[in-house]
Amino acid sequence: MTRVAVLLSGRGSNMMTLVEQARGYQVVLVASDRPDAPGIAWAAARDIPTLALSGRDLGRSKLEAAILAKCADHRVQVIALAGYMRLLSSDFVAAMEGAIVNIHPSLLPLYKGLDTHGRALAAGDAEAGCSVHLVTDELDAGRVLGQSRVAVEPGDTPDTLAARVLRAEHALYPRILAEFCMSPLDRIRAVALQLPEAEERISHGQPTFFVADRQFAQVRDDHHGDGRHVVCVRTSGTDEQAMLLDTAPETYSLPAHLGPAGWVGIDLSGNPDWASVEDRVAHSWELAAPARLLEAGGR
Ligand code: GRF
Repeated sequence: MTRVAVLLSGRGSNMMTLVEQARGYQVVLVASDRPDAPGIAWAAARDIPTLALSGRDLGRSKLEAAILAKCADHRVQVIALAGYMRLLSSDFVAAMEGAIVNIHPSLLPLYKGLDTHGRALAAGDAEAGCSVHLVTDELDAGRVLGQSRVAVEPGDTPDTLAARVLRAEHALYPRILAEFCMSPLDRIRAVALQLPEAEERISHGQPTFFVADRQFAQVRDDHHGDGRHVVCVRTSGTDEQAMLLDTAPETYSLPAHLGPAGWVGIDLSGNPDWASVEDRVAHSWELAAPARLLEAGGR
């Protein structure tokens, strides 16, 4: 179970849905830069440990040091920002590298920063939405992990649009945080096993996914002590394999045994681009599946 801290500054409705819909993670700390943030009282009433400080009185570096110390006390692995209205320092981001996520009320990369709904309306956008993204040094610029779209209705004001987007936020954030907290193997398993007639077996000691007795994915963690954590998938052939190895050598590697048959290993350490990993696993299934399954509509 991944241990999550939520940071907020205000009412905390996203934090509440993260707590109430927690799956595969547990909210073990709720922290705020405002002592009177309503979200803090809600969490405290549910016996969730809280830390409510005044960012204004302490200043950023003392505030962040206190939050990090409390996170360490509670063995926090992931920080979820939910309406936390302060910029994090690069030291803070580095201390939790790759393990901080945020929800932002726009379809990033559109409308970073504040007044997202007013700007979407002023631009005459037909749709708006929200994004969950990784937090980096740059404001609202880390990789998008998931998005949800809503229609802009005639007569919308920033407030009516914000209320519609907020409902979408509440559906999106717990789902994306749960995915983010899954182990890479569980995530591959979830993708692979929803493909038609997919089965999991152990092959050469590794979790391996088959369709009609043909392998299409194998997760390898330090296989033969090579120090790599990868999922091996088929490519359409040695041309595509060579192209992938050539253009993104940090992501793709040549797997032992399966390499000569045109497979690649996709790196799963850090924060892989899951949309692309999932697409490659599904594509590999297509390359392995018998004609009858492809004719029946494929994946
Ligand atoms: C949400 O709209 C969120 O997207 C933004 O701040 C707002 C926080 O609302 N980052 P709440 O405190 O979760 O109710």
